[in-house]
Amino acid sequence: MIKLINPHKSRYILNVESKKFFIETYGCQMNFADTEIVQSIMTERGMKPADDAEAADIIFINTCSIRDNAERKVWDRLKYFKSLKTKKHQDKVVGVLGCMAERIREKFLEEKKLVDLVVGPDAYRDIPRLLAEVEDGRKAVNVLLSLEETYADITPVRVTGNGVTSFVSIMRGCDNMCSFCVVPFTRGRERSRSADSIIQEIQQLSDNGYKEVTVLGQNVNSYKADGVSFADLMYRASMVNPEMRVRFSTSHPKDFPDELLHVINERPNICNYIHIPAQSGSSEVLKRMRRPYTREEYLELIDHMTNLIPGVSLSTDIITGFCGETEKQHLETMSLMAQVRYDLAYMFAYSERERTLAHRKYEDDIPEEIKKRRLSEIIDQQMNIQEENNLKEVGKRHLVLVENTSKRNENQLSGRTDTNKMVVFDRLDFVRGDYVEVEITGSTSATLFAKPIRKSSIQEFYAAETTALPTV
Ligand code: SAH
Ligand code: SF4
Ligand code: F3S
Repeated sequence: MIKLINPHKSRYILNVESKKFFIETYGCQMNFADTEIVQSIMTERGMKPADDAEAADIIFINTCSIRDNAERKVWDRLKYFKSLKTKKHQDKVVGVLGCMAERIREKFLEEKKLVDLVVGPDAYRDIPRLLAEVEDGRKAVNVLLSLEETYADITPVRVTGNGVTSFVSIMRGCDNMCSFCVVPFTRGRERSRSADSIIQEIQQLSDNGYKEVTVLGQNVNSYKADGVSFADLMYRASMVNPEMRVRFSTSHPKDFPDELLHVINERPNICNYIHIPAQSGSSEVLKRMRRPYTREEYLELIDHMTNLIPGVSLSTDIITGFCGETEKQHLETMSLMAQVRYDLAYMFAYSERERTLAHRKYEDDIPEEIKKRRLSEIIDQQMNIQEENNLKEVGKRHLVLVENTSKRNENQLSGRTDTNKMVVFDRLDFVRGDYVEVEITGSTSATLFAKPIRKSSIQEFYAAETTALPTV
């Protein structure tokens, strides 16, 4: 007897299982976390990771649209991937994922004919079906944004990485609509993932030997799910394993809750490091950027943070040459940065993005050379500040979590302090995942050098630190 089978389905399962995939990722940490979700969806269907694009049957590029140069890089890579589709490898599939997929959509297929598949950030569950369409000779697109999708039930597959530190996405999208920013258009509405699923994932990471998680969202302070606030979530996350560090990113200055500062203070494993982007030091520019705080309010918040958390390390994002930025306003950014003395800053020249309010309402009127000159001025100043800040660390003791072998010298290890500073020291018998107490012996603007003292733990190190405090 002939058994009837669905020809479409059987073909799809047979073909997909033998495929090897490779994902190249650009953009922010959330994009890297998304790649791990896609890896999970692919391996669940029996597909295997390939070592590189050349060896893969399916090449995905997870893209970023934040600035024009981020997109240009992707076009170059796509041209290269297309060149891999030689006569022998005609059936290689090339797909665009992420923010650029969402922004450029069908035009990817129509205009440039470089790709077979376009998948937006909320449609990753649909990838197996879309791949089947491609198998059938069709080009496939799904760029639907969702109000609910958080991929809460998908355990990310972490095929790369150091096995010590990991990202955990706690929310998706953004409702802030800063006038320069494309993210609300590429990532859709803000939504929070359930606290239980987040804690479960952190527990799994801890069970698998991970020692640090960074929880991610475009604005983590507005996290809210089933009555759980971000401060509550951080408290719960920190209780999973007292020997597991917890970091978070990014905090919007508009709503930094006091409870969170208290939780950071109380829990030794929540890191004393806050990424709190100012974007500009001029209240007028901030207004045009639709950042709902003034220079003064921002500085007050920074004061408040440094008073409540002694020794807290701060970092920022800054944009130079935003629409209408005068020389005086640029100098206000310089002076804000000089006043706060950030330990780290991510600095960018403004890049106009279609659909944003700035694109519709303001003229991108600062010439490229002025944007660049202002950018190099803030970078130069920031490098000096970092060098001075780091020099002050010499002689101090820190607890470093070992992440990797040093890039420059294989007899040395690298890891970060609680305050997120990179430290390099001699390997001795230490291994990845160890907490090592070190004494800082030297510094540059980007790195601290240290002498290892002993293997330690969060509880041991901070207990010693508290008892070492002078008693009054
Ligand atoms: N959600 C985060 C930022 C995510 S985007 C926050 O609000 O802080 C990361 C950084 O890219 C932004 O902080 C901003 O400094 C920069 N950026 C965003 N849009 C940009 C643009 N159009 N041109 C230049 N830099 C931009
Ligand atoms: Fe963009 Fe502003 Fe949202 Fe950050 S908060 S992602 S800068 S719109
Ligand atoms: Fe880029 Fe999208 Fe992240 S635009 S910065 S990858 S949210």
